Amino acid sequence: MTVDRLNIISTIDDRIYGSFIEHLGRAVYNGIYEPGHPLADEDGFRRDVIQLVKELHVPVIRYPGGNFVSGFNWEDSVGPKEQRPARLDLAWFTTETNEVGLQEFDGWLKKVDSELMLAVNLGTRGADAARNLVEYCNHGKGSYWSDLRRSHGKEEPYNVKTWCLGNEMDGPWQMGHKTAYEYGRLANETAKMMKWVDPSIELVACGSSKMVMPTFADWEATVLTECYDEVDYLSLHNYWGNYDGDTQSYLSGGVLMDDFIRSVTAICDYVKAKKRSRKTINLSFDEWNVWYHTKESDKKIEHWIQAPPRLEDIYNFEDALVVGGLLISLLKNSDRVKMACLAQLVNVIAPIMTETGGKAWKQTIYYPFYYTSLYGRGTALKVNMDCPRYDCRQYTDVTVLDAVAVADEGEGTVTLFVLNRSMEEDIALSCDLRSVKAESCLCHTALEGYGYEEANSALEPDRVVPSPKSTDILAQGRLEVVIPRSSWHMFRFRTKG
Ligand code: AHR
Repeated sequence: MTVDRLNIISTIDDRIYGSFIEHLGRAVYNGIYEPGHPLADEDGFRRDVIQLVKELHVPVIRYPGGNFVSGFNWEDSVGPKEQRPARLDLAWFTTETNEVGLQEFDGWLKKVDSELMLAVNLGTRGADAARNLVEYCNHGKGSYWSDLRRSHGKEEPYNVKTWCLGNEMDGPWQMGHKTAYEYGRLANETAKMMKWVDPSIELVACGSSKMVMPTFADWEATVLTECYDEVDYLSLHNYWGNYDGDTQSYLSGGVLMDDFIRSVTAICDYVKAKKRSRKTINLSFDEWNVWYHTKESDKKIEHWIQAPPRLEDIYNFEDALVVGGLLISLLKNSDRVKMACLAQLVNVIAPIMTETGGKAWKQTIYYPFYYTSLYGRGTALKVNMDCPRYDCRQYTDVTVLDAVAVADEGEGTVTLFVLNRSMEEDIALSCDLRSVKAESCLCHTALEGYGYEEANSALEPDRVVPSPKSTDILAQGRLEVVIPRSSWHMFRFRTKG
């Protein structure tokens, strides 16, 4: 490998380390919020969960859905709690009490040092409810909705900057599912009105809910043809899973992410060309993660109970490698991916789990996200490599290693993230870091050596954790190290000023 300081991909937008909390399962109730818990604060939020979320340095959190938002009346979730209605949520067939709403969630975001990425309902509702919500959140005072906010005890506006125009509107499972043309028109009119209320906001239009959707590509082209001038980002969603025990394809999941991003970028630029526009639409990969362990068992959940455990995937070692690889892919594509949300954050397909009344613990996927979020900020550098390749059931000509580097000039460091996605080959890596003037290796941490199915649990929370490795691996600006099969690594180097 070579890391060249002039081989710049992009300045990384920190919002690539966003996450997602939906009113779903035990994400909110008995997740972040559990008033009866011994560690709950004065607002009912768990202090131990706040601490774990803060450690991840998540700059934005998408809320309140997800599928949930497509049937959500935002007015239900503001004002005096005792007057808020309980509603049937048709996305997940539960009862939503609205005990936690916009104001409470915003208060929690402050505790975890994050910001709101707010989704509006374009399923059962439309432009009018959306523009009213912008007025409620972002207008100072002197209008019906802004004064209502003030009467709810929130004098200053929320100033929500980033908004999602609905959720997965291409999916037949979505309340108010639409054709691409119907959605594109609605997104355009809604965006126009929301920006008339507050021109400073940024808007994300819905792309496809996964790459294998039959409407993929046509959906993006049609939607953008209708709303290109009014929106700023197009969303991508995708979940990975080792469905049929094909671990080699599963470990190669970054290939699909690269391909998906490249394809959507091409479509954005095609519409740009067609419209002779000078504006570029960037991407928001605002739902990505592993999700498959609970898909079958969740089908048995009883309807209309409040906050049942759901989508509580327990992540193992191979899932952590996949998540590490997907983060490498996001960084490699950070010239166009400006936002991304690990879906989700607490209990629901999450890096952080809680026991109701008990402790909070970290899943295996917590670790690659933690290290990449902490040290993957600055300028993304492309890594050139000469490396063995393999074919597997789903992909061909895959490089055994996947890698990206990040330069942080302020700190005087370069961080290299490497995944060995082969199940068989250990690789003797030689990486030339002379161009970035690497002087010493500050840290080498690795997820390696576990069985693919080993996982953490409340009883054994530290069974799968990254281990510190020797830093005596750099000589004359060249890194020499063995990258064992099926392993993920972070190397940090001090660079000469
Ligand atoms: O994150 C879980 C669900 O996955 C979200 O509600 C939906 O947008 C997606 O299908």
